[in-house]
Amino acid sequence: MHDCPINQLRIEFLISHEYPMLTALPLISESASDCANVLRVFIEAPSYTELVEGRSPSTEDVTDFFFGKPAGTDAAQKSVFGFFAGRDMIGCADVIRSYPTDDCIWIGLMLLTEADQGRGFGKAALKLLIEMAGDWGYRAAQLAVVSTNPRAYAFWQREGFEEIRRASSPRFTGDLIVMQRPIG
Ligand SMILES: CC(C)(COP(=O)(O)OP(=O)(O)OC[C@H]1O[C@@H](n2cnc3c(N)ncnc32)[C@H](O)[C@@H]1OP(=O)(O)O)[C@@H](O)C(=O)NCCC(=O)NCCS
Repeated sequence: MHDCPINQLRIEFLISHEYPMLTALPLISESASDCANVLRVFIEAPSYTELVEGRSPSTEDVTDFFFGKPAGTDAAQKSVFGFFAGRDMIGCADVIRSYPTDDCIWIGLMLLTEADQGRGFGKAALKLLIEMAGDWGYRAAQLAVVSTNPRAYAFWQREGFEEIRRASSPRFTGDLIVMQRPIG
């Protein structure tokens, strides 16, 4: 039910009418400009990969952003979005539908360029994703934040996410803290 084409149409153009104004557009891996924009966002947010993986951003981050997914999920469950302030793509996020449970979306990564962090765009971007997921019929959103990223943890907490479990991961500099919030 969640992958019905009519619902898919709703993700073509999402605009937040509150300040700050933000538009979410789906991105596609076949588009050279979408890939270049995603790479630019990673490069303009170097502190993130430094903090959670102890390395600089690279083209592998773009591949992972478009194609990385949790084990046991299908590529068709994944959607990737660019966030635009005016004509400029200032951030991106990926979403896995119906994961880890049928009524839940998983926010893989939300990343804004450093120049655009701390200005309310993250709150606006999350609102767009939550509204979209609500329209699709989902009842909850989950994500994992790395324990070495306390500012992001504080952001998600402020946006209504609560810790539900922790897991260790050799890829990251800290534990993965899984958080969840209801939708609707
Ligand atoms: C986390 C993030 C999406 C939040 O969006 P934002 O637009 O910066 O957040 P808002 O302006 O709506 O809210 C500001 C709050 O976000 C958090 N925040 C601000 N800058 C941040 C940063 N560089 N990294 C992580 N969190 C940050 C803080 O909680 C901040 O509150 P504070 O100013 O009281 O510390 C954004 O900061 C970001 O892209 N950070 C780097 C990538 C990241 O950590 N993503 C989350 C992975 S789980």
